[in-house]
Amino acid sequence: MLFRNRFLLLLALAALLAFLSLSLQFFHLIPMSAARNGASSKSRKRIMPDPVTEPPVTDPVYEALLYCNIPRVAERSMEGHAPHHFKLVSVHVLIRHGDRYPLYAIPKTKRPEIDCTLMANRKPYHPKLEAFVNHMSKGSGSSFESPLNSMPLYPNHALCEMGELTQTGVVQHLQNGQLLGDIYLKKHKLLPSDWSPDQLYLETTGRSRTLQSGLALLYGFLPDFDWKKIYFRHQPSVLFCSGNCYCPVRNQYLEKEQRRQYLLRLKNSQLEQTYGEMAKIVNVPTKLLRASNPIDSMLCHFCHNVSFPCTSSGCLDMEHFKVIKMHQIEDEKERRKKRLYLGYSLLGAHPILNQTIDRMQRIAEGRKDEVFALYSAHDVTLSPVLSALGLSEARFPRFAARLIFELWQDREKPSEHSVRILYNGVDVTFHTFFCQDHHKRSSKPMCPLENLVRFVKRDMFVTLDSSSTNYHDACHREGV
Ligand SMILES: *[C@@H]1O[C@H](CO)[C@@H](O)[C@H](O)[C@H]1NC(C)=O
Ligand SMILES: *[C@@H]1O[C@H](CO)[C@@H](O)[C@H](O)[C@H]1NC(C)=O
Repeated sequence: MLFRNRFLLLLALAALLAFLSLSLQFFHLIPMSAARNGASSKSRKRIMPDPVTEPPVTDPVYEALLYCNIPRVAERSMEGHAPHHFKLVSVHVLIRHGDRYPLYAIPKTKRPEIDCTLMANRKPYHPKLEAFVNHMSKGSGSSFESPLNSMPLYPNHALCEMGELTQTGVVQHLQNGQLLGDIYLKKHKLLPSDWSPDQLYLETTGRSRTLQSGLALLYGFLPDFDWKKIYFRHQPSVLFCSGNCYCPVRNQYLEKEQRRQYLLRLKNSQLEQTYGEMAKIVNVPTKLLRASNPIDSMLCHFCHNVSFPCTSSGCLDMEHFKVIKMHQIEDEKERRKKRLYLGYSLLGAHPILNQTIDRMQRIAEGRKDEVFALYSAHDVTLSPVLSALGLSEARFPRFAARLIFELWQDREKPSEHSVRILYNGVDVTFHTFFCQDHHKRSSKPMCPLENLVRFVKRDMFVTLDSSSTNYHDACHREGV
């Protein structure tokens, strides 16, 4: 348990650092209150928490701000750190797309007026924004596997379409890309200046927001890259499992997990009451309101400093928002305890982890292709991977979250390779299932690649149930 506490502390510290700098910027922008619901708002409480410390009790508003991940200036990160006799030989980046417009509208309300065109005089801004737009306009379909080749390469609607990436989302990933470029290219020379197309592996789901996020990151990473050397593959599954998606036991875990979620919701009378109030305000049946996933829309209002929607019967407000957000946090807590989601995650994340170790092993054997891999994905991709790695204490993947696998070669013993795992810039290697006992067992400063390989090829199934030792058996086991 000590370990778990230390992990929490570490994440808390990282969050605090992030939050302090974020607050400075945000406070500057929002001097008092973003609750613009005016007279109808019962509470005149400030919506911004005190930035002095992370709140001692879970604060839904604080959590929501971390989720927004509003771009800020200097970000501290631990990517690319290793003892000097280690050489960085490959990097695998799994991202969640950046800030987006909601996926569903709240019924019978005006949707938030957010402009998804990219403009230099709008905040947040990135110095490469105009150059990015310019470079994207030169891109051609031959750099993309179908159906990606028919998608817009950057967001461009004056009123965002549902699920569209926003300027905030683009800036978040330009920033991620620039940060990674400074570390991996400038400092560690991961790619030679005349890198070849097969040194990059790029893959995205078939949504414009993931494609555009991947492109923004890539542009921040390799400014003015040569379009002829770029090829984005299409991944049809959000789990990145194509070819190995059939897994009945995974689906059974998911059904049980959904049942757990449902029962927890029923137990929360404050939540039910809140949905009831909100449904009355927008004048639709509670069921319909709930099905529209209002928290997703409200988070968009919140992250963009746009007041929550009103009708003639009143306004959705901060108190509603807090109750639903708080429930989400409690749901995640219970999810960790009951471990059904862990079962789902171990099976769901296996294919992408298997793909990643396969790529790492080829590099370790001396091949020079696919040195840098980028998977552009969703919260429902990152969450299971984090959970499967044993990082379930990590917060829900924020917009533009990044999970990175670094592969290092020991120059003193060139046949030995080590991995580092970083989540949003925090080194979490020694919190993973496969390396949490490392320092007890070994005096090596880094986590050996073999640990990760053994975990993915075998131990992750043993974690699930001691009778299966491979993906196929674990997916087809009877009587879960
Ligand atoms: C947020 O909203 C408040 C109140 O309308 C406004 O004064 C402030 O300028 C807004 N901040 C941003 C960043 O748009
Ligand atoms: C794991 O990777 C190997 C090598 O690429 C591949 O042959 C195998 O099908 C993969 N298995 C799963 C379950 O993803």
